[in-house]
Formats: sequence, structure tokens, C-alpha cells
Amino acid sequence: MRLQILAGSAHPALAAALAGELDVEPAAVSLARFPDGELHVCLRDTVRAGDVYLVQPTSPPVETHLLELLLLADACRRAGAGRLTAVVPYFGYARQDRRGGGREPVAARLVADLLATGGIQRLVVVDVHTPAIEGYASMPVEHLSAVSLLAEAARPSLPDQAVVVAPDLGAVHLAERYATGLGLPMALVHKLRVSGTEVRVRGITGDVRDRAPVLVDDMISTGGTMAAAIDALLAAGCRPEVTVLASHGLLVSVAAEQLSTRPVRRVIVTDSVPAPADFPLPLQVVSIAGLLGDAVRRLHAGHSLHDLLAAA
Ligand code: R5P
Repeated sequence: MRLQILAGSAHPALAAALAGELDVEPAAVSLARFPDGELHVCLRDTVRAGDVYLVQPTSPPVETHLLELLLLADACRRAGAGRLTAVVPYFGYARQDRRGGGREPVAARLVADLLATGGIQRLVVVDVHTPAIEGYASMPVEHLSAVSLLAEAARPSLPDQAVVVAPDLGAVHLAERYATGLGLPMALVHKLRVSGTEVRVRGITGDVRDRAPVLVDDMISTGGTMAAAIDALLAAGCRPEVTVLASHGLLVSVAAEQLSTRPVRRVIVTDSVPAPADFPLPLQVVSIAGLLGDAVRRLHAGHSLHDLLAAA
């Protein structure tokens, strides 16, 4: 089967970098809208019998990028693609993997079901919000991790007496991996989410006094989680030298203000989603094109991905 890379409009630069890693040209696709706003997708190259990888993070605008991915998948399926894999480095809706209260959808499950209905046979994701995706997605999921890449990017300029901090309970497992990789102690901030933009801190576990915090999370959206954690850490006697690491730098809404009004020295994220323009802090973007390239090369050849996967 011929290996083919196709991209939607969410992150053409990452798709091009991935295609470069694999030494192939991305297949030509036309993406447009009808006058009434409906999306129109058309494949310009044949995908018949191909081993097709659709590259599309579901970054904002989420609905457009998700629907575009579904339309591309359906077009590929109907055009006779031999095997269809979605490479969704940032998998949106992953935080809605359970009902927070009553009367809510389990949106993560619904999105995974939609991808399966669209004909996607395998999903490649990076540091998705919870490993629960393996349970709610009906197709096989290759859950890659950018933790080693981010830790290596942070290592050369880590301050003395640093401590890896999980800004909430959900990030504990991730923080353990960073702490082990970097040989640093670890602490945990107990977060209570009040709304999509408001969070509160109930306490800190671990020794943080006079230490420089290295906050780690799967994603930064509005920056509220990081901001609340930083305020709590400073109040607990941390040094005002904060490093922030996250796999997905969405950095939407008030994120720039939340982080730039606090003593953040450096923000390090991957290019799983496009980086914001004019971010007011030193923002280091680590490319995952090599990681994705390695994964796609092995999937295409039927080789193991074991050492690339996020630990369970
Ligand atoms: C939630 O548990 C996630 O891991 C992140 O902590 C959260 O989604 C980040 O969102 P925000 O930056 O808006 O607080």
C-alpha cells in the first residue's frame, strides 16, 4: 500500500513537516465552503488502495476542524482508500469523557464514535487528556507522548532547586513522568474547577518552599489552571521563577494575560496545534513532526510503537 498524507486546514505546517519526515508530498485536497456555510471537501489525488493518514488536530475552531476531518475521512473511504488512520495530535473534547453532573453529554465518546462512523480505522493522538480514550474509542488508539521531547527541551535551562508541580490531580501521572525523567522532586496542587474559566486551589501537597516550580500539564487553554497554581505556589513560598510545560499550547482567550502577569520565565509547548502569534512571553515550541513521522513509518511498516507510547 502506498503511504499518503492528507491534511485538513487545522495545521498544514505540521502536516507538511510530517510529510517531509516521511519523504512524501501531501496529497492535494480542496477545502472550501458553499455560500450557505457548508464545508466542501474534494480529494485532488487518488487514494485508491492507499495507506492514508489524515492529519488534523481538532484545535479551535473545533467544530470546523472536526467536521472537516470527518468529511475527508468519508471522501477517502468512498474513494477506495485501503486503510484510514486519523492523526489527531490534539484531540479536542477529550476533557468531556464523563458527565460532570447530570444532563450533560459524554462528548469525548460521541466524537470518537463520529470518527468511527466516518470510516477512520485507527487513531493516533498525543498526550490526550486521559488514557480513558482507549476505553471509549471503538477503533485502536496509538497514544503517543511528547513528555520526553518537552523534558529534554526544558532540561538545559532548569533553575537550581526546581520542583515539578502537577497543577491538578489529573496531571499527577504526567508530573511523575517529568519528575522521573528530570530527576526532580514533585508536588501537587489541589484544584477545584468552578467553571470553564474559573478555578480555585484548595491546597498543595509536597515541599515547594524556596524551590523553582516547573508546572506541567497536558494542555493550557485559558491559563486559569496555571495561574491559580502559580498564585498558590508563590503564597506557599516558591521562588518567583516559574517554568511551564504543556503538550498542547492552545493559549486561547485570556491565557496570555494570565501567564504574563505572573513570574513565568518560559513556556514550552509542542506544535500539536498552531502557536499563537505575538505571545508576550518566551514561548518555545518543540516540534512533534519527528515523533509523528516515526509512528506513521512504523504503522505503515507494521512495526511496534511500544517505546513511543504514553505509559498507561
Ligand atoms: C484539565 O484538567 C486540563 O488538564 C487542564 O488543566 C485544563 O484544561 C487547562 O485549562 P485552562 O488553561 O483553561 O485552565
